[in-house]
Amino acid sequence: MHKRIVVYRPLPEDLLAELRRDFHVDDFGQLEDLDDPAFRAALGEAHGLIGAGRPITAELLDAAPRLETISSVSVGVDAYPVEELTRRGIQLCHTPDVLTETTADTGFLLIMATARRAVELADFVRRGEWQASLGESHFGSDVHGKTLGMVGMGRIGAAIARRGALGFGMKVLYSNASPKPALEEELGARRRELDELLGEADFVCVTVPLSAETERLIGQHELGLMRDSAILINIARGRVVDEAALIEALDAGRIRAAGLDVFEHEPLPADSPLPHMANVVALPHIGSATHETRHAMARRAVDNLRLSLAGERPLSPFNAPVRPRA
Ligand code: DGY
Repeated sequence: MHKRIVVYRPLPEDLLAELRRDFHVDDFGQLEDLDDPAFRAALGEAHGLIGAGRPITAELLDAAPRLETISSVSVGVDAYPVEELTRRGIQLCHTPDVLTETTADTGFLLIMATARRAVELADFVRRGEWQASLGESHFGSDVHGKTLGMVGMGRIGAAIARRGALGFGMKVLYSNASPKPALEEELGARRRELDELLGEADFVCVTVPLSAETERLIGQHELGLMRDSAILINIARGRVVDEAALIEALDAGRIRAAGLDVFEHEPLPADSPLPHMANVVALPHIGSATHETRHAMARRAVDNLRLSLAGERPLSPFNAPVRPRA
């Protein structure tokens, strides 16, 4: 008998067809309501779950007694109760590597757009206000040759640092739990305590995963350590930055600008001031959102799921479940 899979985020048609050949698939596309009775019923029978962007709780797992594997179409796993999954013997897989370069491109897009005020000035042109050549009040600041402070130097952080050092001649500083001697050698990067980095960097670029340790890592105190000419970039998770403190710092001119792809609440609530602030570039969480990369992520997630449900080692497991499955 075919194992049963529940899909809770749209997958490309070719991959869905592939899954349907080997599994019984209950496809919920872009599932909005985790309490949807049909979803709950399917979950009760499911061996595998594939999707992203919805919080998976222990209570939800209680409704899925046969679950063997969750395959997330994301690199970040903050939506999953990892310890609980491990305790229950459920394999969690994710999609590192395939999105690294695209997400780093997004990071650099925000660095460039904020420094050169690209969105603000494009809006100025669109409104028909470009009547004469521009003066100082519309100038931006250079990116090349500046100091890039990476908060987190994992795969994506390293890919942004590489762009900065090799493409833009930037000096790279980083704060990270462990030193990265190979990157220090390759890029001349230098490790700093977070507080020191914040005081030295022209661009502070946040790439750490969200965890209990990193939640609100950048708050009022940290923003206060940044230069008033500095720019904050967040492509990690919204909750790594204290959003209220950031809005206050931007409003008061205590930092120059922010480039944000992620927010405390997504989609961004209608009453958020962030998209209306001239010194903010706000993107709708598009870090990995290209046709090529989203397909590669889905491909990886499908492969992970297939291998794991066959009792083999998935390509990118996140946890190591301790309880042998029956
Ligand atoms: C990821 O893969 O974690 C991206 O942020 C998309 O959610």
